[in-house]
Amino acid sequence: MEFNKFRIRSYEGQSDRAQVEDLERRCEVGPSESVFLFTDTMGDPICRIRNSPMYMMLVAELDNELVGVIQGSIKVVTVHGHPPKDLAKVGYVLGLRVSPQHRRKGIGSSLVRTLEEWFTSKDVDYAYMATEKDNHASVSLFMDKFGYTKFRTPAILVNPVNHHCFQISPNIEIARLKIDQAEYLYRRFMGSTEFFPNDIGNILRNKLSLGTWVAYFKGDIAWGDFGSDGQVPNSWAMLSVWNSGEIFKLRLGKAPFSCLVCTKSWWLIHKIFPCLKLPTIPDFFNPFGFYFMYGVHHEGPFSGKLVRALCQFVHNMGAESKDESNCRIIVTEVGGRDELNHHIPHWKLLSCPEDLWCIKALKNEGTNNKFHELTTKTPPTRALFVDPREV
Ligand SMILES: CC(C)(COP(=O)(O)OP(=O)(O)OC[C@H]1O[C@@H](n2cnc3c(N)ncnc32)[C@H](O)[C@@H]1OP(=O)(O)O)[C@@H](O)C(=O)NCCC(=O)NCCS
Repeated sequence: MEFNKFRIRSYEGQSDRAQVEDLERRCEVGPSESVFLFTDTMGDPICRIRNSPMYMMLVAELDNELVGVIQGSIKVVTVHGHPPKDLAKVGYVLGLRVSPQHRRKGIGSSLVRTLEEWFTSKDVDYAYMATEKDNHASVSLFMDKFGYTKFRTPAILVNPVNHHCFQISPNIEIARLKIDQAEYLYRRFMGSTEFFPNDIGNILRNKLSLGTWVAYFKGDIAWGDFGSDGQVPNSWAMLSVWNSGEIFKLRLGKAPFSCLVCTKSWWLIHKIFPCLKLPTIPDFFNPFGFYFMYGVHHEGPFSGKLVRALCQFVHNMGAESKDESNCRIIVTEVGGRDELNHHIPHWKLLSCPEDLWCIKALKNEGTNNKFHELTTKTPPTRALFVDPREV
């Protein structure tokens, strides 16, 4: 039978690159009826995993043709209730694609199984993956066939960058942190956040990480003291920025005609009536770059305002960026029903209110009870650290 002929092997950069890119193009992932963002890996199919501590890409080959791919990465994160010290090794499954002509022949399943075997050989405790909740094929494969359980539904928030810079309130101070200072604050204030990466220092030191900033109200604290002596202002917020556009680009896929018309006419109005100062809608139909805001944390009664100011600051960074990354949108992902949603400016049209995260315990002994707690007792509203390397 035909489905016995394919073989699963490791990706080989030189010889497989072109075929993998072609496969990606033929497998655009997204709901057919609505607007979605398509990724362009710019000749480097493993760009989405190569910054992780350990990674693997597998391909399925049939008669010298690549008909499927999958990627995986491994790291150590905080998982509540997992001994010792709430740290667990997790394997992230991403980029599963099977050529449309070869689906329902068990190729997707073989790729997932082989990746899980690699995770197990590396002593991974949990495998997890994220998908659109409307992607029935993917949800059925992972949940029904492989026993993954719904874990979280964080929201992906997307905001366009326009040419006008925001005026940040003169009462608010925004300061850049040194990497060591940022690592200290993250470990102290977000260290117990679900999925907080134990190698946060590697993320902050990566060249794609553009920096970490804090915002606080002027006069609330002398800047030099921030955090280091245990003192923080009553209200404060912090976030870091990752230049995702440096490694891959996005473009709008399958945009409905009405959206195209709306965008074009907006441009026209903007051109004719510049004095109206309407926000410009960027060109989303050609590949463009984006910044990913990660590690968004806030504390205090007025910290929502500070989060908004930091987002405006990042927007202005994007608007002023002259590099090749061509930043046209700012993206972030926050825990489901998180109050942060109200403070982070975003467009509903481009955002995804519920990204479905599913998880599976790979070790049977000892971890099962903990796993049950993780998937049933963890409140879905609890903050989640979304690793910029996995975007
Ligand atoms: C999802 C995808 C990888 C599945 O690949 P595949 O090779 O067809 O999967 P398999 O043949 O191994 O199917 C395994 C199981 O997945 C489920 N499944 C696969 N396609 C399905 C579909 N169209 N509808 C419902 N369930 C489906 C079924 O449970 C199936 O088991 P069954 O055949 O015994 O009923 C493929 O459809 C694809 O590339 N889709 C586009 C990219 C994508 O959505 N990737 C997932 C992103 S996380």
